[in-house]
Amino acid sequence: MLKIERISKTFDPNSINAKKALDDLSLNAQDGDFITIIGANGAGKSTLFNAIGGSFFVDSGRIVLDDQDITYVKSNLRAKKIGHLFQDPLSSTAPDMSIIENLALAGMNKGLFSRISTNDRTYFQQKLKELGMDLEQRMDTPVRLLSGGQRQALGLLMATVNKPQLLLLDEHTAALDPGSAEKVMELTSRVVEENHITCLMITHDMKKAIEYGNKIVMMDQGKIIQTIDKNRQKDITVENLIRSFRTNQGKDLVNDRMLLGL
Ligand SMILES: Nc1ncnc2c1ncn2[C@@H]1O[C@H](COP(=O)(O)OP(=O)(O)O)[C@@H](O)[C@H]1O
Ligand SMILES: [Mg+2]
Repeated sequence: MLKIERISKTFDPNSINAKKALDDLSLNAQDGDFITIIGANGAGKSTLFNAIGGSFFVDSGRIVLDDQDITYVKSNLRAKKIGHLFQDPLSSTAPDMSIIENLALAGMNKGLFSRISTNDRTYFQQKLKELGMDLEQRMDTPVRLLSGGQRQALGLLMATVNKPQLLLLDEHTAALDPGSAEKVMELTSRVVEENHITCLMITHDMKKAIEYGNKIVMMDQGKIIQTIDKNRQKDITVENLIRSFRTNQGKDLVNDRMLLGL
């Protein structure tokens, strides 16, 4: 469903700060895949997602989603098919707007200044109730008053309200306390399954990468250096992921944040 063919991206080309963030990278996702992506800081993981989401056009290569070449499709048009959720819960939502206004905007059912119909309200109320985060009682509350976990749960609902084909999760639980992170991860898994969404998830938590991914992709210096298929290789542990990275790259994958996730 997603074919990424040999994409490259250099930031600030022709300057001393030139940085090749994606280097001839190819990746395929099949329908229903849940691919987890790991790699040290600066490996190019977020840049890969931004390329898929269309925040910029790649310098070379092709991105094909469901047989449509989207390499030069603008991000707002891609957004109908691709949901994107980030680490900072605030970045996914408009903090001064209410829960229901945020949902309506995400659903593009109604603009900010039009009325939200009773039907929309009932629909969103039901969706919020399903999250189990008590948000259905607070539909008119500004989002800035919610906890980080509640906000990310709402962000997840917003990112999936249009039933995207592809969901990009960029360390979306990394800023949460362990309890909320666990809850948001459970929700993620449920929402993805119920809506049959193909998912790519960047995480620093290698246990989660192994638990949730049917494939685990390791990135380093703008490239994919290893893909592990859980169907073919059963005995994956955090320890042999770390060892395998070291063998491949001759350096350590692990930084403090990854160790904390152990
Ligand atoms: N908009 C940008 N402008 C310039 N450099 C960038 C930009 N985005 C990312 N980079 C650089 O590209 C490299 C990869 O960054 P990023 O994709 O954010 O890594 P990761 O998400 O794996 O930690 C880093 O060296 C980063 O500084
Ligand atoms: Mg990143």
